[in-house]
Amino acid sequence: MTASKLLSLKGKEKIAMLTAYDFLSAKILEEIGIELILVGDSLGTVFMGYKNTLPVTLSDVLHHVRAVRNGAPHSFIIADMPFLSYGISVEESVKNAGILIQKGGANAVKLEGGTEFADTIAAMIKVGIPVMGHIGLKPQSILKSGLKITGKSKEETHALVEDAKTIEKAGAFSIVIEGTTEEASREITRSVSIPTIGIGAGRYTDGQVLVLTDMLGLDKDLNLQHNKRYANLYKVIKKAVKNYIEDVKSGSFPTEEQIFKRAKE
Ligand code: KIV
Repeated sequence: MTASKLLSLKGKEKIAMLTAYDFLSAKILEEIGIELILVGDSLGTVFMGYKNTLPVTLSDVLHHVRAVRNGAPHSFIIADMPFLSYGISVEESVKNAGILIQKGGANAVKLEGGTEFADTIAAMIKVGIPVMGHIGLKPQSILKSGLKITGKSKEETHALVEDAKTIEKAGAFSIVIEGTTEEASREITRSVSIPTIGIGAGRYTDGQVLVLTDMLGLDKDLNLQHNKRYANLYKVIKKAVKNYIEDVKSGSFPTEEQIFKRAKE
């Protein structure tokens, strides 16, 4: 996958993206051949147990990008730019994006924001860093605007479309649309020539993304309207651990199969 191949899929074939944070998951995703892997700053909530993504640092993301790159050496990996790693100055933002590419091995970066980050996006692209935009519900803006579904009115939809067009003009190769009405994401998708990837944005985006641990059902308490559970790993892991404990207590593990014996003299 390359940014230009992705572009050619728009309107022809839906694009599938999933997050990954570790070596083994990334290895599975590459084996299956998923088009895009995102090392999202959602690692803060699903991997670190933070209440939101604000505490995630550049070195946290770098650490996970390296693990994912080790597991998926041939995949197109997008590294999320965490809170405050961009937006303070354009120079610092470009430098930080460069770290995720150069030291982490990512193919591209993603940052949350629209028109306000057009200069930053353009500066990254100028030095050769492909950028994915992210509009709609922006988890890093939780303190500023909360976590609400947008695109509920014509005005909100218009603002989102303008954001998407500006991001495209700045040179982004794709845009994540999170938490919008289906009508809004459809209009955005029609208004730009780069692929849109939706999460909680309905059926008409050019592709979809889910958080891997959410779609695998690892968190029994998670109840997100946009999510679909494709497995119940919570139950699978719980049962396996319970069986292991029982086996250890009863002495049925290890068996002959798992032991090493001294060579016969
Ligand atoms: O951090 C993340 O996982 C994301 C996706 C939800 C798009 O930004």
